[in-house]
Amino acid sequence: MTPPRHPFDALAAHYWWLETVTFGPLLQRCRTAHLPRLAGCRRALVVGDGDGRFLAELLRANPAVAADSLDISPGMLAAARRRVRGLPGAGRARFVVGDVRTVALPAAAYDLVVTNFVLDCFPADQLAGVVTRLAAAAAPDSLWLEGDFAVPAGRWRGQAARLALAGMYAAFRSAARISAAELVDVGPLIAVHGFAPAAEMTWLGGFLRSRLWTRSTQRMSPVSMGRLPLGTASGGGGRRG
Ligand SMILES: C[S@@+](CC[C@H](N)C(=O)[O-])C[C@H]1O[C@@H](n2cnc3c(N)ncnc32)[C@H](O)[C@@H]1O
Repeated sequence: MTPPRHPFDALAAHYWWLETVTFGPLLQRCRTAHLPRLAGCRRALVVGDGDGRFLAELLRANPAVAADSLDISPGMLAAARRRVRGLPGAGRARFVVGDVRTVALPAAAYDLVVTNFVLDCFPADQLAGVVTRLAAAAAPDSLWLEGDFAVPAGRWRGQAARLALAGMYAAFRSAARISAAELVDVGPLIAVHGFAPAAEMTWLGGFLRSRLWTRSTQRMSPVSMGRLPLGTASGGGGRRG
């Protein structure tokens, strides 16, 4: 039986070139900037990965990780499946069509949760519930990789970011029928569940941000975190915000 179509399906074939035209390589840099720090992860939940660009790089970089890729759009997941097909790690990926707001997730099962450019799809009144569900699926010792847009500090940068975000939200509300209308910082919602910031990289003066969070029963050493200093790090090829 053909799964029902989702508004994001229509974007699946165009997603990569739309992104390339608007942001060049920067979104992919943002998604993958912390990959060296994920070498110890064994079971990942990749939420709303779209056409699979992060998933493919995770499988390449970490030969021991198994990943569940969860997305509400069958079209996006089909594109992701095509992308990883033929990779040596393809057999370690499982594709699940589902809504992160309602799909059954195993408890405390994943040592890595990834939310790149997906939590911005949810309005504030849904976001806490989504984050709570994902935190419950994350193991007591786990990492959470979260990449998204952000509103940088500073009057002009902040205003420019808000203007750009207003345009992007208008476009995605129309094309993908997302219900969110503004960006919410998910940091405090993630922190509530015992995750602490471990590393952060920014691009475009802080408009793009990748944050790695850690929830650990033991303090992580800089070595286990991949040698980069905890706290902040400048983006690979990117600029500090
Ligand atoms: C803006 S795209 C981002 C895709 C990708 N993560 C990236 O880095 O570009 C949002 C993705 O989240 C998925 N998505 C939106 N709402 C979702 C939901 N409720 N549950 C699961 N996936 C969802 C969409 O299908 C789409 O693939």
